[in-house]
Formats: sequence, C-alpha cells, structure tokens
Amino acid sequence: MSSSASCRFPLPAEVVGQIYLADNLAVLRELPDASIDLIYIDPPFNTGKVQQRTQLRTVRSEEGDRVGFQGRRYQSIVIGSRRFQDTFDDYLAFLEPRLIEAHRLLAPHGSLYFHGDYREVHYCKVLLDAIFGRDCFLNEIIWAYDYGGRPKDRWPAKHDNILLYVKNPSQHVFNVEEIERIPYMAPELVGPDKAARGKLPTDTWWHTIVPTTSKEKTGYPTQKPLGILRRIVQASSRPGALVLDFFAGSGTTGRAALELGRRFLLIDNNPEALEVMARRFDGIRGIEWIGFDPSPFQKRQQAPKPKTLRK
Ligand SMILES: C[S@@+](CC[C@H](N)C(=O)[O-])C[C@H]1O[C@@H](n2cnc3c(N)ncnc32)[C@H](O)[C@@H]1O
Repeated sequence: MSSSASCRFPLPAEVVGQIYLADNLAVLRELPDASIDLIYIDPPFNTGKVQQRTQLRTVRSEEGDRVGFQGRRYQSIVIGSRRFQDTFDDYLAFLEPRLIEAHRLLAPHGSLYFHGDYREVHYCKVLLDAIFGRDCFLNEIIWAYDYGGRPKDRWPAKHDNILLYVKNPSQHVFNVEEIERIPYMAPELVGPDKAARGKLPTDTWWHTIVPTTSKEKTGYPTQKPLGILRRIVQASSRPGALVLDFFAGSGTTGRAALELGRRFLLIDNNPEALEVMARRFDGIRGIEWIGFDPSPFQKRQQAPKPKTLRK
C-alpha cells in the first residue's frame, strides 16, 4: 500500500490517532525526522520467511543417487540443517532498517521501548547498541508473570524483556513523579507514611498477562496488558505527546495513549489486527484509518450519514 495519499503530518488538531494497514517500513520512511516522542514496539519473532537450508556432502558410492563426471555415482549425505540460524539472520535483517527509521524519527527527548523475549533479546540489544549507541541504553525491564505450563527439564521461562533506549541520555523524558507507585512488600518495615505512598517500581515488573476472561481481552493472540503500556506511556511521554507503535497488533499502545491524553500512530500489516482495533476503538472520535475501512466492524458509527435532500 502506498500511504502517501493519506499520511497527513503533523496530525491535524482534531485527530487523536492514525491507524494504518500497511507494511511499517513504507510508512516509517514517510514520516519526518524527530517527529515522534515515544516508540513502543513488540515485533513478532518469526517474520514468516522461515528458510531451511540443508547442507549436503557428496561421497563416492555405487548405490549413489547422483551421477557425476565419467558416470561415477555419488551419494548425498545430509550434514546439517541451518533452519534456526537462517530464521534468526532473517529476523535481524528484517528489524534493522525499521530500527534505523525508529532512531531517525525520535525527537531529542524521545525513547524507544523494545519488547522481546529471552531467546532473541540479546541479539536485538547488540543491534540496538549499534544503532543508538551503548550510552543511550538505559534499562532492561523484566516483565515477570506466572502463567502457563512448566517444563520439567529447565526453569520455566516466565518473563519478557523490554529494552529501553533514549535518543539523548541528557534530554530524555522520564516523569518520575507521574509513575504509579506500588505497594511495599513488607510495609511494616518502612513506617506508615512511606507505606501509604508506596514505592517506585524498579526494572522488574510483576504483572499478570491479559486474563482470558477479562474485559480487556480482545482475542488477538499476542495482546500485551494495558497496565504495562500505561506505565511506559506515563513515564516516558508528556500529555499531548505523539506515541508510535509500528507493530501495533490489537492496539494496546493506542489505548494507553488515549487514556493518558497522548496521541498515537499505529501500524500493522495484518487485516485481522485492524479488525480487532476497529472494535477496540469503536465510538472514539478523531481517529483516521488509512488503507482500511473500520465501519463493518464497528457498532457505534462515528457520525450519522447526512440525509439526501429531496428536491
Ligand atoms: C507481537 S504482535 C504485537 C502485539 C501488540 N503489542 C498488542 O498488544 O496487541 C506483532 C504484530 O506485528 C505485525 N507485523 C509484523 N510484521 C509487520 C510489518 N512488516 N509491518 C507492520 N506490522 C507488522 C503483526 O501483524 C502483529 O500484529
């Protein structure tokens, strides 16, 4: 999709958010430098381009399946498969141009939160260090939860990793006073005043996944909890800021931004994600949909159609 026809930037005052059905790279390339205050992304691990490259060695054999020079027969022996490696190389190659754009788009006070998991996050950190610089890496946030199966041959993996990078470590927004405080684990040890105020969260966040039966659940398989996104938006952007999520999925980042008085740009290339977002933002005024018509999925239409006047 070409987004240039509808990509209105900066957003007009009445627009609270734009939602694109598009490949994110195409849209990112059209946005101006330093135009975004906060980026959160939660990219999928598997880009869909899984490759299996089987390595073969040939040996002379009368029973061989290949015929070579002077009619000699050879047998092929599989010596390995690089499936994982190829998938992985492909993933970083997919991410790199998008992360370079993310860095270009961030304002000098801007931040990027990169959400990954324990299998990939270390390689992503090396890539992000190269793009942002190691001095712009502020935190690895561990989002810890307790849900799902427990394998018997290793420690059950019950956390995601969120890397925080800033464009400029001496200018970035961090609203420490705005962050919702959490209860002390042992309030009796800190005295009543401190206990009543609660404490600042650290880089380890205990938060449930989106419960299956909750109102928050959209049905999108990789939906992240609003509580996690609220904390990010609250800490790292100011009211009125523009928040970008270019792997938007069910639109959790947009929802958090909206609740906290920020504006948002959401991009996803999966029509099912857009259908979920159409329902999730049903009835909210001031959203521009680009490359997608949300109305078949919305009950509360934005405005009644004007009646045709009889002559
Ligand atoms: C892990 S999900 C994000 C879930 C989201 N954080 C939420 O709370 O619902 C990743 C999303 O990236 C989208 N995606 C993958 N490749 C993309 C691309 N090239 N351009 C835009 N979106 C893409 C997928 O369709 C998927 O919805």
